[in-house]
Amino acid sequence: MTTEIDVVIIGAGAAGMMCAATAAQRGRGVVLIDHATVLAEKIRISGGGRCNFTNINARPECYLSQNPHFSRSALAQYSQRDFIGLVERYGIGYHEKKLGQLFCDDSAQNIIDMLKTECDQAGVQWRMGTSIGAISHDGTAYQVRTSREHWRCASLVVACGGLSIPPIGATGLGYDIARQFDLAIVPTAPALVPLSFDPKDLFADLSGISLDVSVQLAEGKAPAFRENVLLTHKGVSGPAILQISSYWNPGDTLQFDLLPDHDAGQLLEEAARSEQLLGNVLSSWLPKRFATAFCEANFANKPLKQYTPKERAEIAARLHDWRVKPNGSVGYKKAEVTRGGVDTRALSSKTMMANRQPGLYFIGEVTDVTGWLGGYNFQWAWSSGVVAGWNC
Ligand code: FDA
Repeated sequence: MTTEIDVVIIGAGAAGMMCAATAAQRGRGVVLIDHATVLAEKIRISGGGRCNFTNINARPECYLSQNPHFSRSALAQYSQRDFIGLVERYGIGYHEKKLGQLFCDDSAQNIIDMLKTECDQAGVQWRMGTSIGAISHDGTAYQVRTSREHWRCASLVVACGGLSIPPIGATGLGYDIARQFDLAIVPTAPALVPLSFDPKDLFADLSGISLDVSVQLAEGKAPAFRENVLLTHKGVSGPAILQISSYWNPGDTLQFDLLPDHDAGQLLEEAARSEQLLGNVLSSWLPKRFATAFCEANFANKPLKQYTPKERAEIAARLHDWRVKPNGSVGYKKAEVTRGGVDTRALSSKTMMANRQPGLYFIGEVTDVTGWLGGYNFQWAWSSGVVAGWNC
């Protein structure tokens, strides 16, 4: 038996719930279908369990896409201030951790409960633990077969996210649906992900060391990110690395400024007036274990004054420009998001509907819009979900 409904949304995650509540509040009949049995696992584990639900600095420049201006319209129509207003209406306590990142005071579950309440109050139907079968379009409406029933709808919203963290439900279904309706896919890759090195490229086992540095791509294709870098057994992690990983492609080299707040040349010239060894001087600015290994791998550990001014200038240059080439990333199993996705050149930036396939919408992470670390990806889910909800 076929059930007629206005809107079928595939994926009850961040974008899907936001879209469902918005469309149902307009009086649309909406069903949310998800193969997971537990609601919104990604929201639950996000932000260390406190959900970094938006960023007060969210703006189009903080998003990567082959179509760089695409996010502008949705972010303007439903901004971080709108979402903060919703959080405040629910009395959810929150705080800014750093760099405009807003987290729940208590638990990410507050955000899930808020979205579920919004959906329930508007009359959204839920189909959790339901797998999707064949999808088709009969000329006037979409047909969606599921493990429970068969739906017929005017609007089909694809909100099933990217490939990150398969054990909690990530699949490529959204890309398959896009291909079925002849939409292009921008090649996907793990993003906001730790990067790995060939063991021979690590000059010592420095795992556990944290550096406050600036990192960019030596090829100059990315902004510089100034945050912590964590050295691990396999490579590098920490916020600055997760940020740059979204821009990194195999073959690219990371370029670190190890002393972003200092003029290393001036510091070394001042230190050269004493009898101090290079390794000891470096340890006053960098963690000792790192300073020792960095010195041993690159220079002789002798008193600074025994170096010529030219050699000291070379050491200073190396401190501001230390280069390492990762051999890969640790992959989708650890990536916070998926870069690439449904090519937004085929979508309306105002409504998220496919230009050549009326009634078919793509929202959230399944699209080729990837935010920086720090609440930007959820803001994209909220903004794209709401504008689709106003139109589907
Ligand atoms: P999302 O992945 O949330 O939802 C997709 C839904 O579709 C899921 O419920 C899934 O089960 C369902 N689905 C998938 N395939 C299906 C299929 N074949 N059939 C039926 N249903 C299917 N971002 C941020 O801004 N701040 C943060 O603090 C964090 N923290 C964070 C931590 C970790 C560990 C991860 C992995 C990710 C983050 N993120 C984040 C990123 C953020 O979680 C992500 O960008 C959004 O959840 C994307 O929302 P979507 O609704 O697009 O996909």
